[in-house]
Amino acid sequence: MKLDLEFVRAQFPAFSELSLRGQAFFENAGGSYTCRQVIDRLTRFYHERKVQPYASYEASRLGGEEMDEARRRLAALLGVETDEVSFGPSTTQNTYVLAQAFGQMLKPGDAIVVTNQDHEANTGPWRRLTDRGIEVRDWKIDPETGHLPIEGLKGLLDEKVKLVCFPHCSNIVAEINPVAEIAALAHAAGAYVCVDGVSYAPHGLPDVSKLGADIYLFSAYKTYGPHQGVMVTQRALGEALPNQAHYFNADVLYKRFTPAGPDHAQIAASAGMADYIDALCTHHKAGDLSAAQRGAFAHDLMRAHETALLQPLLDYIAAKNSVRLLGPRQAERRAPTVAMVLREPGAAVAEKLAPKGIMTGGGNFYGVRCLKAQGVDPAHGALRVSFVHYTTRDEVAKLIDALDEVL
Ligand SMILES: Cc1ncc(COP(=O)(O)O)c(C=O)c1O
Repeated sequence: MKLDLEFVRAQFPAFSELSLRGQAFFENAGGSYTCRQVIDRLTRFYHERKVQPYASYEASRLGGEEMDEARRRLAALLGVETDEVSFGPSTTQNTYVLAQAFGQMLKPGDAIVVTNQDHEANTGPWRRLTDRGIEVRDWKIDPETGHLPIEGLKGLLDEKVKLVCFPHCSNIVAEINPVAEIAALAHAAGAYVCVDGVSYAPHGLPDVSKLGADIYLFSAYKTYGPHQGVMVTQRALGEALPNQAHYFNADVLYKRFTPAGPDHAQIAASAGMADYIDALCTHHKAGDLSAAQRGAFAHDLMRAHETALLQPLLDYIAAKNSVRLLGPRQAERRAPTVAMVLREPGAAVAEKLAPKGIMTGGGNFYGVRCLKAQGVDPAHGALRVSFVHYTTRDEVAKLIDALDEVL
């Protein structure tokens, strides 16, 4: 089944926005366009339901129901229980809160494993636990390829390790890590795993139960939704970790790691992400599938399209002597988030691409450790071009032409 791009693009108002016409969007890893289902729900919430939710008057009841619907439907697509899904202001905020909880649960002398492939969000807050006497062990990438070798993890695991934190795929290297294999290794050693799925989820929601992740995090605003962080916390772990919310909310799993009041409107609007995935399935005649199967169907549709567009771009970049491509050259091994190191600073090249109708970015993308580990000066930074399933072949061709002019 081929992705119907005309249908897909009709779901994103940005593509009919006059002010964006002629602009090819290649900064999706920073934040995707928002699908109309989410925008419609957000607008409706602010117009009709912007009251304290969960009371018995109609507007309030509907608002509360819509917030529950968002968690229920996203959980079903992710293959987890409804109360295992919670929202926070961002993924960085979510890992920060989780790190507080682990800091209270672990004892001095316990160890956690972190990587230098991660965005700072899934490494910095964990590293700070050294303040509490917790040992932090570094799982390091290969400096040439950016690859995170499983062998490296094996050498770090022992009975002291209680948690392994790593990305599903990095926002710079973009190689897809074998989450299920890593989780199995960590579990066998008695450790939990916390997976940063921010760079992966926009390319298709995973079945988190199959991945075996105890914690799986992603950002809705990079996944066609509103500016929220989505957090899956597997029940046994969520109940074992100390509650970070008001004490009287401790019994409600999805409230335990949300100390601040939730953003009602944005949570409700997140149900639009599920609407979009369902619309994609219905349009492509997926048939009568369970929610997790619909998630997988949409995932495979997106992935096939993205991979087909990505390979020519990778081939083009790999053939340029003046360019260092970060991460794998094979499209199947990575997400379509392509960072490259150039003679000029990444941001300077992004600036030259802007007048050519290419929206992209340059810099360190908060992957400072990841760049340094590959011998790249974060101040020089990388140019990063990133796309998702709504991107067309013509846009990729336009990008290649523009790169040809500036490199
Ligand atoms: C891989 C990855 N993890 C985490 C984050 C942080 O997400 P948030 O902005 O929701 O805190 C980002 C943001 O760019 C990211 O790319």
